[in-house]
Amino acid sequence: MTLDDLGLSWNDKESLIGKVVTGASSGIGASIARKLAKRGAYVTLVARRRDRLDELVQELHKDGLYEVMAVPADIQKAEEVQHVVNETINRWGRLDIVVANAGFGYRSPLVEVDMERWEEMYRTNVHGLMLTLHYGLPPMLGQGKGDVIIISSIAGKEVIAGGGPYSATKYGVNAIASALRLETIDQGIRVTTIQPGAVATEFAQVAGYSEDEIRAFASKVLPLHPDDVAEAALYALEQPEHVSIAELTIMPSRQAQRFK
Ligand SMILES: NC(=O)c1ccc[n+]([C@@H]2O[C@H](COP(=O)([O-])OP(=O)(O)OC[C@H]3O[C@@H](n4cnc5c(N)ncnc54)[C@H](OP(=O)(O)O)[C@@H]3O)[C@@H](O)[C@H]2O)c1
Repeated sequence: MTLDDLGLSWNDKESLIGKVVTGASSGIGASIARKLAKRGAYVTLVARRRDRLDELVQELHKDGLYEVMAVPADIQKAEEVQHVVNETINRWGRLDIVVANAGFGYRSPLVEVDMERWEEMYRTNVHGLMLTLHYGLPPMLGQGKGDVIIISSIAGKEVIAGGGPYSATKYGVNAIASALRLETIDQGIRVTTIQPGAVATEFAQVAGYSEDEIRAFASKVLPLHPDDVAEAALYALEQPEHVSIAELTIMPSRQAQRFK
């Protein structure tokens, strides 16, 4: 028997249409949004800092006739996430890809954890992801087709001292992604989890690392550029329909583990 006897057919690369990118005001999310827009996708930019989103819209409009709009929202709040999805459908008529990227880190030994900071991180990284999926999935399920890109972390695969609180959220993110993959596999939804090592963004500052620590780590391990992670996301998104990149770990060449 030859391959032809099976009567199979494979489609070419996927096309990119209406998308929502959370955490698009800086770092990895901004980079993914830029690249999607430049590939011809219609992109809804989501984050809390309206001024940053407006700047990105202006930058992209100046660069060319890209279809982008800013919908400021806090992903911790159900009504704001629902509003983002409604605005996307109203404007573009479809929702084809959700890039769930918004999140932040906070490092602390467990006994010293600032419970308010921990709760905010959990509400953003885990609860915010749940809300993003809860409101973002129905339009894609209705279409019988869609992509979910979830930006997790190497911290979702290994734990370091002081990294327990953040790792707990990213292990949770991976569990949600795995369940989603199982639950939607027969409904045309592809779920990709991307687990980056260190990336040069505002992340380390927000997580509480000092400037000296950031400089020392960056000179030892040349971190990834946010565009490197964005290219990984596009690689997954542009696969033909029958190919699903389930998980992708992307590290700086000089980083083997979270801090080594
Ligand atoms: N950089 C790294 O080394 C690294 C490594 C592995 C994984 N990651 C993950 O990559 C993702 C992106 O981080 P990044 O490195 O690009 O850091 P970043 O530059 O600090 O970007 C974080 C983004 O998340 C948004 N955000 C945070 N809380 C939000 C909320 N409640 N509602 C809406 N948006 C919110 C921020 O926007 P606003 O502040 O304007 O809301 C910002 O756009 C995160 O999930 C992070 O855990 C980062």
